[in-house]
Amino acid sequence: MSLANLMSRQSSTNSGGDAPGQKTTMFFTPPMTDREFQELRRRIFDEIGIEIREHKKHLLINRLSKRLRHLGLQTFSDYLKFIEQSPQRRQEMIELVDAVTTNKTDFFREPKHFEILERQVLPDLMSDRRRSSRTLRVWSAASSSGEEPYSLAICLAEYLARQAGWKYELLASDISETILRAAVTGIYAEEKVRPVPAPLLRKYFLKGDGRFKVKPELAQTVTFKKINLKLDFQRALSGFDVIFCRNVLIYFNRESQHEIIAKHWHVLRPGGYLFLGHSETLHGCSIPFEYIAPSVYRKPVDA
Ligand SMILES: C[S@@+](CC[C@H](N)C(=O)[O-])C[C@H]1O[C@@H](n2cnc3c(N)ncnc32)[C@H](O)[C@@H]1O
Repeated sequence: MSLANLMSRQSSTNSGGDAPGQKTTMFFTPPMTDREFQELRRRIFDEIGIEIREHKKHLLINRLSKRLRHLGLQTFSDYLKFIEQSPQRRQEMIELVDAVTTNKTDFFREPKHFEILERQVLPDLMSDRRRSSRTLRVWSAASSSGEEPYSLAICLAEYLARQAGWKYELLASDISETILRAAVTGIYAEEKVRPVPAPLLRKYFLKGDGRFKVKPELAQTVTFKKINLKLDFQRALSGFDVIFCRNVLIYFNRESQHEIIAKHWHVLRPGGYLFLGHSETLHGCSIPFEYIAPSVYRKPVDA
């Protein structure tokens, strides 16, 4: 049975299971002056490229208050000094990234994408007579805790098992070192693996202690790496057939979104596919991707 069929069966027995809600605090929260807010926004934008909008000030206060408490600091002014001058500032920037990013993800999130990958994209890529290699190169560019790249690995392993001589290489990256460490372990609670169809769960996961671990044979097909999409990643990467860059562009302003899309264009091979999140679009973007389906695009073969 195809992966798409297994998934449609699964979704009818599945209630969805969203990730836990936003981070909040029940303790004393120090005030943040406008000057401190602007300075923190600037630091976050320079480091990650994410723009914290004015109406997110309270969310930022909530999330960073926990850091202040943890570090024993009284004010956001003290915190700003800490991230500029402390010998631990490098470590604190990692904590800051974790505090302001959202890692919500799921196995086979936006299942239609995996259906399009299996039914349309993989057959198209493999029928390209100009290919010199039988290795498909795929990148999950904001991989969070690993559910997206492991879903891709399952999809690719299942499909390529039916195509003699083909292999895949899968790169998974994120800016957060903490979330990448979690992804590498490949261990998930039972409710997290609910979207994985039962036969694939048995085939690709080990069960123990109420949790599920990705089997080493699958895990070793995924290479995890820290990559900041704001930086010039296109200098080090090239030749991808498929890029999943989903549910991360929404955090950037239009200018940064455009820059990131342009860099993805650069690292895709002609005829390669770009998948964005369902609420993300290339509408109004001047880069000449072909529209394939909602939030799915292709770099023209003659580009
Ligand atoms: C909401 S999750 C999306 C996960 C997955 N792509 C999905 O759609 O389920 C967004 C991820 O983007 C990462 N992220 C945020 N800013 C980033 C940046 N500048 N470079 C790389 N990753 C970033 C976050 O750490 C987080 O894990």
